Order: sequence, then structure tokens, then C-alpha cells
Amino acid sequence: MPRAAITSVGHYVPETVYPNSYFEQYLDTSDAWIVERTGIRERRFACNGATSDLIIPAARQCLERRGISAEDIDCIIVATVTPDYFFPSTAAVVQRKLGATRAWGFDLSAACSGFIYALVVAAKLVEAGFSRRLLLCGADKMSSIVNFDDRATAVLFGDGGGVVLLEPSDNPDVGVLDAVLYMNGEGGQYLYMPAGGSAKPPSLETVQNKEHYVFQEGRTVFKEAVIRMAEVTLQIMERNGLRAEDIAWLVPHQANLRIITATAERMGLSMDKVMVNIDRYGNTTAATIPLCLSEWYQAGKLDYGDRLILVSFGAGYTWGAVYLRWSLPKPD
Ligand code: UT7
Repeated sequence: MPRAAITSVGHYVPETVYPNSYFEQYLDTSDAWIVERTGIRERRFACNGATSDLIIPAARQCLERRGISAEDIDCIIVATVTPDYFFPSTAAVVQRKLGATRAWGFDLSAACSGFIYALVVAAKLVEAGFSRRLLLCGADKMSSIVNFDDRATAVLFGDGGGVVLLEPSDNPDVGVLDAVLYMNGEGGQYLYMPAGGSAKPPSLETVQNKEHYVFQEGRTVFKEAVIRMAEVTLQIMERNGLRAEDIAWLVPHQANLRIITATAERMGLSMDKVMVNIDRYGNTTAATIPLCLSEWYQAGKLDYGDRLILVSFGAGYTWGAVYLRWSLPKPD
């Protein structure tokens, strides 16, 4: 079986920057609190458009870098919790807007672990020969489901999109090499959007009660995230005989700098080997990991054969880690 390798990347964030000082103007919060408790300094919010509009520029960049056209794509997977519509899927919207007329596809819902979950599914499709050019998108327009009057959540999130292209590789040494995924539905109550689904359809009451926004019991989720992120990274290192010095980059989901630092510490990894951009984008949910990959590639900080560990924790609870070896040379 061939390996599934990442053969191109792309990303997009909206132009409008909202620094912490934006929230200081109307909420009982401070730049100092936000930076100290989360590591976030600013984030981007899309003033117009939907999640698919965060994906399209990222997808175009991804295709252009690979030198192929949208018609060459045979499958589109979109990881998101902020789909354009309940149905049709955002993948179908992306297919139309991109002109990827030969692609089938679907959305995958695993919140902050969406990209990792989707990467595993995508890799299996490519390994099985069911897809040869798969566009994997992680994107969220979190501003569409964040209560801007709630200081506990408003300051945490941002909008963005990241895309990777997966193709089969005959070189068994590069590509997606291993993965572990977990879920514990008991954690669902601590991070969710209460209304809008079939459990609680939209009504005047749900709107008045502000139930169409992210609800999070931050401290509970934080404690679980610290434990699970460290546990799953150590597990994947052990399974693959990896020591800290073998790893070029840890690519963690960007929810809180303190969670990221704690994970790196448990791995024995110094922070200069950890991709961090939470200071500039906040938590963009399914987009955090592909955003990191694309930015680091663009900056020439990723090289062929680099060993990467991708790790995330999020609503569900869902969590997991992927071990891959980077299959692209540095850009010219
Ligand atoms: O991405 C998916 C998974 N999500 C996560 O991994 C997020 C996990 N959780 C977190 O990152 C953190 O729990 C938060 C950043 C959300 C909160 O940080 P914390 O250190 O856990 O704070 P806390 O919720 O325990 O709140 C401490 C205090 C509270 O005040 P009291 O009760 O001690 O008086 C909060 O009301 O900080 C208060 N607080 C704020 N103060 C200023 C909460 N939000 C703010 C705020 N500005 N924005």
C-alpha cells in the first residue's frame, strides 16, 4: 500500500485584526489577563462571507503551489463546526466555488480535533487507492458562533482556514506513518453549542437565551486537555520508538499556550521545536494545525523528512495524535 503524503499546503486568515484591546473597550477584561491565561494577543474575524470563503483562498494557494487545477481534485473533506449550512455540506459548496467538478466529498465534525480526525480518514482513502488527489480542509468561522458579550469565550477564538493536498507516495519513509484517535462523549457537556440542532431546534426562546453560541466550562476542559494531549503524544512517541531529539516539530492544536507548553514539557521538547501562532490567530478550531503547517512551510522552516507530531484535544471530548514525516522540500 502506498503512503499518504502531504504534497502541498495553503492557508488563509481574514484581513481584519482584533487585538486584545478591542475587548478591553467593552468587556471586563484586560490584555494582561488574556495574554497570561491564554497566550493570545490578537485574532482575525471575517466581516463577510462563510466558512467556505475562508477555505477557497487557502485551497487556491494549495493548488497553485502544486501546479495543478481544481479539476484534478477527486475528493474534498472539510473539517469544521461552523459549516456554511447544515446541508448541503461545506465540501459541496467548496467544490462548486472552486470548480472541482470531478470531486466527491463530505464534512467531518470533530471540533478542535477535526483536522487530525479528517487527516486519518483522508490518509486511509489515499492509501486504499480510493483517492489520488484529496483536498483536506480545516476551517472555522468561529465569530459566527461566539457570544461577543461573554468574556469567558469571546476572547479565545478566531477565524481561519488551512488546506493540505494528500497524494499517494511510493516512498514508505514519508507521509502519514501512524495515528491514535480517542473520544469520550461524557465530556460533551463541558464544551458545546446548546441549541440549533435536532436536540434543541432554533426558536425565539433559544435565541433570547443565547443558546446558539459556544458554551465552555473552561477550567474543566483545560484540565482534561493538559492530561490527554500529553498522554497521547507520549503514546505515539513510544509506539514509534521516538525520542524528543528525533522530532523536528510538535504541531499542537492552538487553544491555550499553557496547554501547549505543558505538552511540550512532558515530551521533553524545547519550545523552539513547537509550532505556536496562537498569539496571532487565537483558537481557529479545525484550522489551527493546517494553518501552522502552511505558515511554517512558507517560512522555509519545514524540510523533507522532518518528523512531525500533530496533536489536538477538543469538544466531544475528542483527541488524538498523528506521526508523519514531511514530504516536501523547502520552497524556493
Ligand atoms: O479548543 C478546544 C478545547 N478548549 C480548550 O482547550 C480551552 C481550555 N480552557 C482554557 O483555555 C482556560 O480554561 C480559559 C482560558 C478558558 C480560562 O482560563 P482559566 O485560567 O481556566 O480561568 P478560569 O475559567 O478558571 O477563570 C479564572 C477567573 C474567573 O474569575 P473568578 O471566578 O476567579 O473571580 C473568571 O471569571 O478569570 C475570570 N475570567 C476572566 N477575567 C478576565 C474569565 N475570562 C476572563 C477574561 N478576562 N476574558
